[in-house]
Parts: sequence; structure tokens; C-alpha cells
Amino acid sequence: MQIKSAAFVISNTDVIKCPDHNQPEYAFIGRSNVGKSSLINSLLQHKGLAKTSSTPGKTQLINHFLINDFWYLVDLPGYGYARVTKTKKKQFQSVITHYFEKRKQLYCSFILIDIRHKPQPIDINFMKWVGQKQIPFAIVFTKADKLKPNLLDQHVKDYEKALLEDVWESLPPIFVTSATKKTGCDLLLKHLSDLNQEFKKLNSSA
Ligand code: GTP
Ligand code: MG
Repeated sequence: MQIKSAAFVISNTDVIKCPDHNQPEYAFIGRSNVGKSSLINSLLQHKGLAKTSSTPGKTQLINHFLINDFWYLVDLPGYGYARVTKTKKKQFQSVITHYFEKRKQLYCSFILIDIRHKPQPIDINFMKWVGQKQIPFAIVFTKADKLKPNLLDQHVKDYEKALLEDVWESLPPIFVTSATKKTGCDLLLKHLSDLNQEFKKLNSSA
């Protein structure tokens, strides 16, 4: 998919105040510092559109971006980083929970995982929670440039094994990306384009 336009729309703490629209919306979620905002900028080929920082806790609000005048990407605060204060963690958790529970426009979520780490309960539990809410999700591994190529495959396989050994019978779509090197961006955009087509079909026959 070609990105013809990408624009910041609005930031909110309250899901109730988020844009009222009937288009597909996709949320990027994951631990603080996993690279959500950086990957959004890489996908949209727009440095600085989403605010990034090496200090965890940079994104504190629900940020809506409108792409190609049709679909929305949402950059959310991260969860669970040890160096984020307890108060902030609670605040972020509440923003995230309300967003996922109440946002009817959310068509698919993308759960970002730092590819360097072993499967973490906090991420697996988040996937289970999203699954229980029947919100479709894909897994996006980030920071692939930080791992030697032979370890990339191994880490993905370990993760898949952990998911299948847990409650999952089948695996969600999985992508391996690097915001720095733009690895995996084309495949991720293709997936988003397929989801947009699916959304259009479903809504034209409704
Ligand atoms: P919060 O908004 O704080 O939750 O973080 P975030 O998940 O949005 O992460 P962000 O995009 O701000 O990136 C965090 C740090 O990781 C920054 O220093 C980025 O430069 C770095 N980073 C993000 N993606 C990549 C990547 O693909 N490769 C490398 N090497 N660094 C990355
Ligand atoms: Mg961010």
C-alpha cells in the first residue's frame, strides 16, 4: 500500500472524546519503549509524526493519525515498564483498558514485542485479555536490527512455541520489523491494506 497522506488528527486521554468515524482503526500497543511510535513513523514514512524517545513513557495519550483519508492508526501509551512511575503506569493502564473496551472502531490491534526478549507474562497476558474481548490482533516483533539474523528466527520460533503451549490453538499473523532499517514495513502495510479491503467488503454487504 502506498502512503499518499498521513496526518495527525487529535490526542485524547478519554476514549469518549476520540474521533467519531466509520472507518477502520488500528491500534499499536505494547510495553513502553518497545518502539510503537517509531514503527508508526517508519510505516508512514514521516519522521517525527509520532513522538518518540529513548525514555520510556513518552506517549501518554491516545493519538489518532488519519492515513490516505480513509483509515486510522492509533499510537497508545505503553504498559508495564519498570522505570515508569507507579502513578503513570496506573494512568496508562486505565487509558489502555478503556480504549480497548470501548472503542467500537478498533478493527485490529497490533501487539508489539521487542524481539530480543524471551516471552514475557505481561505481553502474553495482554494477548489473552484482548483475545477474551474478541479483538483481532497481530504480533509485531520490533528492533530486529538489534539481533543477529540467525537469532531472529530462533526467537520467533521460541515465541510461537510458548503461545501454542499456552492457550492458543492457532497463531495470529506475525511480523518481524525494524523501524530503523524499515524491515518488514512493506509486509505490514500489505496486511493493513488487506484488512482495509476486508472492512470495505464487510461494510458494503451490510
Ligand atoms: P513509549 O511511547 O514510551 O511507550 O515508547 P514507544 O513504544 O513508542 O517507543 P519509541 O518509538 O519511542 O522508541 C523507544 C526507543 O527505541 C527510542 O530510543 C527509539 O529510537 C528506539 N527504537 C524504536 N524502534 C527501533 C528499532 O527498530 N531499532 C532500534 N535500534 N531502535 C529502535
Ligand atoms: Mg510512544
